[in-house]
Amino acid sequence: TILVLDFGSQYSHLITRRLREFNVYSEMLPCTQKIKDLNWKPKGVILSGGPYSVYDEGAPHVDQEVFNLGVPILGICYGMQELAWINGKGVARGDKREYGPATLNVQDPECKLFTNVDHSTVWMSHGDKLQSLPTGFKVVASSDNSPYAGIAHEEKDIFGIQFHPEVTHTEQGKTLLKNFAVAICQANSNWSMENFIDTEINRIRKLVGPTAEVIGAVSGGVDSTVGAKIMKEAIGDRFHAIYVDNGLMRLNETEKVYKTLTEGLGINLTVVDATDLFLGKLKGVTDPEKKRKIIGNNFIHVFEAEAAKIKPADGQEIEYLLQGTLYPDVIESISFKGPSQTIKTHHNVGGLLEDMKLKLIEPLRELFKDEVRHLGELLGVPEDLVWRHPFPGPGLAIRILGEVTREQLRIAREADNIFIEEIVNAGIYRNISQAFAALLPVKSVGVMGDQRTYEQVIALRAIETVDFMTADWYVFEAAFLKKVASRIVNEVDGVARVTYDITSKPPATVEWE
Ligand code: XMP
Repeated sequence: TILVLDFGSQYSHLITRRLREFNVYSEMLPCTQKIKDLNWKPKGVILSGGPYSVYDEGAPHVDQEVFNLGVPILGICYGMQELAWINGKGVARGDKREYGPATLNVQDPECKLFTNVDHSTVWMSHGDKLQSLPTGFKVVASSDNSPYAGIAHEEKDIFGIQFHPEVTHTEQGKTLLKNFAVAICQANSNWSMENFIDTEINRIRKLVGPTAEVIGAVSGGVDSTVGAKIMKEAIGDRFHAIYVDNGLMRLNETEKVYKTLTEGLGINLTVVDATDLFLGKLKGVTDPEKKRKIIGNNFIHVFEAEAAKIKPADGQEIEYLLQGTLYPDVIESISFKGPSQTIKTHHNVGGLLEDMKLKLIEPLRELFKDEVRHLGELLGVPEDLVWRHPFPGPGLAIRILGEVTREQLRIAREADNIFIEEIVNAGIYRNISQAFAALLPVKSVGVMGDQRTYEQVIALRAIETVDFMTADWYVFEAAFLKKVASRIVNEVDGVARVTYDITSKPPATVEWE
């Protein structure tokens, strides 16, 4: 195992991810981690980048015991300045930031870190840089702007690099990290998703013990389904999945989810039909934030009430709550956030945990989305579910602008279903990150046959994105849009016009509310 100490760079989490790509397992901990508190010995240590200057008051510094572990160390960006600061303080405050690509020139072809990395493009993103070599170090690589793009200790396996090997813009970044982890640290490269399943199942069994029971909410999305399936594999029917039908799901969605999870995956599932409750509470409400609050709060009430009905066979209470938290969510919570470290609970479950006094179980907390998909495939989750676009918790309520009624739900469902059906038929579902139809409560004049019509508007939205923080609209062929528009107006009562949303995020968001 490689220890990654996180100084808060936006790229830190990518380091663990890249290492796993060549089957090396790593664990990321905040840079303030005390080495004496670790109950395992790393094969090597990586110091990540970070947003600070080593000279800042309260700038984070690594526990000096790291250097007594006697294992190889790689400092990236801030991590390199940290090495320099500790070994003679040769860091210059940057007068200008360097951001973007640079060409790397390896000065010392003997350096094991740079095997097969010479003359490639690297990604720079830093303010400060080295102005002189720290004591005991030599230059091993440079770029036009950074004479000390790579440094190495004269005797020990301690390296510093100014650029970020973990981002894909650094062409040979993965090679460099592999050189470090495998060739230099000799870390085992035996991590695999198959092993992960076995290890995780054993971990869950040990944690939960032979009798305790676990509950979890499932939505039909990939994260909660894969999480539920792994719980099923670990503890069978002592895992109780609860699906709350808030009445805001897509066409036939609840039936499909029920069938897949029970008949397909054998999960012990209870479906609660809370349609009347949710639609009752949403009556007359048009403000988007109010809608979200009503849906979120009532979800917690319904889930808790249902959980209270589950009586474990041995008379014990339910002890654990499953959550499909992924690594990027974890990082948001544990990443080093500055001199005063803030730790926050993941927002989706905060309420449930406080009310129910449950302990959290998070089998996916080390994985990225595409890894969860891979895991799902290995666990036998059907392909269409594994590759499903995300669907927001508040469901169609934030895609029906204005008041949510049964009639508006019917229109939104039918239009959305046609759009998605055509996307699947065109074979482009996986090229699109998310697609849906929004229903706008404005009326527009049309003509059908000899009749004047006066009905509402559907806005189609389809986006491409890597992380949902920024997104661009998907470029469909004109013939495709023509077909979808014609089908929606002809087949869905109550729609007179179809538009396509061509706004990127930012400035728009993905959802309409
Ligand atoms: P926005 O609209 O914020 O959406 O650009 C980004 C991604 O988040 C999803 N989304 C939500 N998911 N509860 C959720 O579980 C919510 O309240 C929520 N709002 C937006 C959205 O579908 C998109 O994938």
